[in-house]
Amino acid sequence: MNHPTDDNAGQPDGRNAAVASNDRQTPKASDPELAGDDLDAAAIMNALRGVIDPELGDNIVDLGMVKRLERSAAGAMHITISLTTAGCPLRAQLMRDAKARVGSLPRIDTVKIHFGEMTAQERSDVMARARWKARDNAVDTDIPATCRILAIASGKGGVGKSSITANLAVLMAERGFTVGVLDADVGGFSMPQLLGLDHGIEGESAGAGKTVMKPVVQPIGEGTLRVVSMGSIAGANETEAIMWRGLMLNRAVQHFLEDVKWGDLDYLLIDMPPGTSDIQMGLARMLPRTDVVIVTTPAAAAQQVAARAADMARKGHLRVAGVIENMGPSVNPDGTITAMFGSGGGQHLADTIGVPLLASIPLDTAVAAGGDNGSPAALEFPSSPAGIVYRQLVDTITTDVAPPIEIAECSLRGALVRAGADLDGARQRAESH
Ligand SMILES: Nc1ncnc2c1ncn2[C@@H]1O[C@H](COP(=O)(O)OP(=O)(O)OP(=O)(O)O)[C@@H](O)[C@H]1O
Ligand SMILES: [Mg+2]
Repeated sequence: MNHPTDDNAGQPDGRNAAVASNDRQTPKASDPELAGDDLDAAAIMNALRGVIDPELGDNIVDLGMVKRLERSAAGAMHITISLTTAGCPLRAQLMRDAKARVGSLPRIDTVKIHFGEMTAQERSDVMARARWKARDNAVDTDIPATCRILAIASGKGGVGKSSITANLAVLMAERGFTVGVLDADVGGFSMPQLLGLDHGIEGESAGAGKTVMKPVVQPIGEGTLRVVSMGSIAGANETEAIMWRGLMLNRAVQHFLEDVKWGDLDYLLIDMPPGTSDIQMGLARMLPRTDVVIVTTPAAAAQQVAARAADMARKGHLRVAGVIENMGPSVNPDGTITAMFGSGGGQHLADTIGVPLLASIPLDTAVAAGGDNGSPAALEFPSSPAGIVYRQLVDTITTDVAPPIEIAECSLRGALVRAGADLDGARQRAESH
């Protein structure tokens, strides 16, 4: 049986182009089958290294997608490329790129591309290789391996990423966790204001002329916040601070990952900038173990951009852990419901991208007031409509979505957190009486 082909009627000699399956121990691609008298395979493979599968984030040779090279009697170069699925939308682009690159080599006039489909095993091997490559690109960071990393993202601005980051961070700290907060919105930082931080990041000599940054530390309840934001980069005076920020702007997130002495962390929450920009892709490259939570309002327009943000995260091989709907319907004192931005959008988005809806946080004046005061509503007004949902959301995250590593091992920390959750329940019951 021939592979489906986009170029001409099957393989030149009619043989099956499948090759032996890849080595499963190491994420290394196997060599393609070669056929033909004067085949300059090395040059062709080199040319094909310039063909990138944008979805998998690597070139088709290193990913092991080039399965067969053969020169036909008539002189055409036949190349068989295995796709993850036969209906891959990138098919046309891969064919164009491969033809252009191989066609530019000397002594090759005609290039014919044939497409095959990977077996389930080949597909899982290629994904392993793509993940391996992503890890290779990761930066050196002081963030502990046991730290859970959650990026709070959305396609659209102003949907509540920063206020969600701040509220989750303080509640998690209150329950006894050590929570890092990385304000990745380098141009529009908001964490110092939202968390009411009144001092800046300090430097510390790490020897050999290297200085590391120490996060701003804020004890909350049984736990601690460790915050890094452009807004906390201080200098001897404001001019020096502005100069510092200017110098860092381009690679600020990388600095925050490489040059910050984070110390022990249970969680790192990353407040992402709006949009699907370089920072998102950079984060995927530098911190491939990040889980992404997508924030949307219930409005249809917000969902579309939020779906793009989820798509982008997945292209960077990041797990999308769930959707949070913000500014959702709120219940009035008389029991009626106000849905300023509509309703059901979060669930719809979650269903569309195939992840759970983690919470619908109502539109609540307490949230805006807490943000203005530098005291997040979830702590300041725990029995406000948003405060109640935030507590449930923290339960969901710390028990289902991204439980701390220690909980899995039933450590003291796990007991502490469970006790914190009981305390929350007791407090809420007391307040509602
Ligand atoms: N549930 C809510 N109820 C009422 N106001 C809210 C709620 N969530 C956020 N807000 C308010 O909406 C505004 C925008 O929120 P926020 O800054 O958190 O959004 P963002 O997604 O981080 O924006 P940007 O994309 O600009 O970074 C803020 O004034 C905030 O206080
Ligand atoms: Mg923000």
